[in-house]
Amino acid sequence: MKVNKTTPTDYPILDSIKNRWSPRVFANTPITEHQVKILLEAGRWAPSASNIQPWRVIWGLKGTEMYDRIFNCLDEFNSSWAGNSQLLWINAYKKTMNNRDVDNFHALHDLGLFMGNVIQQANSMEIAVHQMAGVDFKKAQKEFGFTDNYHVTTAIAFGYFGGNPEDLPEDLRKQELKENRKRMSQDEFAFNGNFKNNK
Ligand SMILES: Cc1cc2nc3c(=O)[nH]c(=O)nc-3n(C[C@H](O)[C@H](O)[C@H](O)COP(=O)(O)O)c2cc1C
Repeated sequence: MKVNKTTPTDYPILDSIKNRWSPRVFANTPITEHQVKILLEAGRWAPSASNIQPWRVIWGLKGTEMYDRIFNCLDEFNSSWAGNSQLLWINAYKKTMNNRDVDNFHALHDLGLFMGNVIQQANSMEIAVHQMAGVDFKKAQKEFGFTDNYHVTTAIAFGYFGGNPEDLPEDLRKQELKENRKRMSQDEFAFNGNFKNNK
């Protein structure tokens, strides 16, 4: 079943940005290791401060032990739907500059750019991406052997668009089928002058 979302843009933007959204059900079509490598390659070429590339990824395909280990780090809410995905991964970033015990203030910014590339690549392959803050960071940190100079940020669910919303609990099904997408207007976040604290 295809869910149609409306994106009421104020200005013309790329279709690949306009058509992206974050489903909680996915088609049953498996994602292959080769496709994972393509997604990682898109992320690999993201820009980063001083080209430090602070992003780190742990990934697992559905039906493997890695997938289950990642799934077991999700919080209760995300566990209620993320098992519909065909690929799960954990994102972390390196907190320090290379060869120096100094914080890399821009590492989180760079991880966001990495994911922006991954999402654009995924969308071009009809693969949907749903990012999740609801992950037990400490558990994931330990489970996958990250040392203290890395910070686990998010888990990500991937799968082809086209899942059946009937597979979701009722409240999530309603959200999934809601057509209209909403955003702040540009004048709430962009200023051709001083910042205005409008909230
Ligand atoms: C960093 C980040 C964390 C998020 N965490 C969760 C989460 O834990 N669970 C969830 O269901 N959605 C999560 N989302 C999805 C957002 O709720 C979603 O992107 C937002 O509502 C906009 O919807 P759209 O992506 O469909 O445009 C997260 C998104 C981002 C970027």
